[in-house]
Amino acid sequence: MRLNDCFNFHDFRELARRRLPGPIFNYIDGAADDETTYRRNTAAFEECDLLPNVLRGVDQVDLSVTIMGQKLQVPFYCSPTALQRLFHHQGELAVAHAVQKFGTMFGLSSLGTVSLEDLSSNFSFPQVYQFYFHKDRGLNKAMLDRAKAAGVRIMMLTVDSITGGNRERDLRTGFAIPFRLTLAGMTQFVVKPRWAIEYARHEKFRLPQLENHVAMSGSTTSIGDYFTNMLDPAMSWSDVADMVKHWGDKFCLKGVMSPEDAKRAVDIGCAGIVVSNHGGRQLDGSRSSFDQLAEIVGIVGDNIDVLLDGGVQRGTHVLKALSLGAKAIGLGRFYLFPLAAAGQPGVERALGLMRSEIERAMRLMGCSSIAQLSRNNVRFRN
Ligand SMILES: Cc1cc2nc3c(=O)[nH]c(=O)nc-3n(C[C@H](O)[C@H](O)[C@H](O)COP(=O)(O)O)c2cc1C
Repeated sequence: MRLNDCFNFHDFRELARRRLPGPIFNYIDGAADDETTYRRNTAAFEECDLLPNVLRGVDQVDLSVTIMGQKLQVPFYCSPTALQRLFHHQGELAVAHAVQKFGTMFGLSSLGTVSLEDLSSNFSFPQVYQFYFHKDRGLNKAMLDRAKAAGVRIMMLTVDSITGGNRERDLRTGFAIPFRLTLAGMTQFVVKPRWAIEYARHEKFRLPQLENHVAMSGSTTSIGDYFTNMLDPAMSWSDVADMVKHWGDKFCLKGVMSPEDAKRAVDIGCAGIVVSNHGGRQLDGSRSSFDQLAEIVGIVGDNIDVLLDGGVQRGTHVLKALSLGAKAIGLGRFYLFPLAAAGQPGVERALGLMRSEIERAMRLMGCSSIAQLSRNNVRFRN
């Protein structure tokens, strides 16, 4: 199986599964507890049908959207995800090159393996920094100030991860940073020597956003410990309101699921929210993000830009979410499996397939711009 054999999410996932050591594949593919929310995120799209119009003159289709003051050429972006250099030695740089080509944006994770400064000095897409809230308020301020100096345009605070999710696949394999593999987990690395050779040949694995603050070398602190010991479960609305003021520019909350919270985000001056359950990796049993979208848009209207991520695998999924009022859609595993499968060409192929699926579906829907999509274009089955 090669990259040219990949035509959809499932093909990329299969190629990634063949190339990655089991513990790494399962870190990407896995979710919390029984993984119910993870499955539900995609299944929810199937309960909503598109309703096309015909004879609307759709020779030209404009896919651009503007969110939080940034114009994107396509209505999707790459969500922030951790540890990308483990998935492919090109890591975030592969994603950034692809994102630049498609004229969209990319959120760099706090647990990213490339520095904010490296991204901002080499790429011109709107830079988004995904941030976790630490107990140490001085550390929070220092990180925001560093992001500001690096030219970050949008600060994205993840609010659904004040403690780590129960990811049982990782417990079985011993996946952790630094590695603490079980014997079974280690065996799975041995049978994928190509990954190990590539990993060893390239730049050393680093977490540049955290390395001055957290000692992760020498097995002193693992990422699990980082979530448990350094992040602040006492984080409150007033803490975030202070942060929004300190940032003084576009601020976005990622992981909002209730209409009440969406309203509070408007009240404290956020420019955007991402309706998200972290790809099912945190609270299993949580409602799917797509099922929750209409309720949230109904409450906040156009007072804030509502984005959505979770389970998106098809251009038609993107169209359904846009029809219900999302302004742009985040992709997670949709670009991570292609990254793992083939680096930059993999991500480019996946984003290209997504763009052409959306363009084709827009024509078939009778819409020549994203603004023409509305609730009239969808029907729920019950
Ligand atoms: C391997 C992996 C790592 C992730 N790391 C982060 C992270 O560091 N910060 C964050 O806010 N979200 C993280 N996420 C969640 C994504 O940003 C996004 O919400 C989720 O992947 C969307 O679901 P999808 O993968 O079904 O598209 C991660 C997701 C995956 C799959």
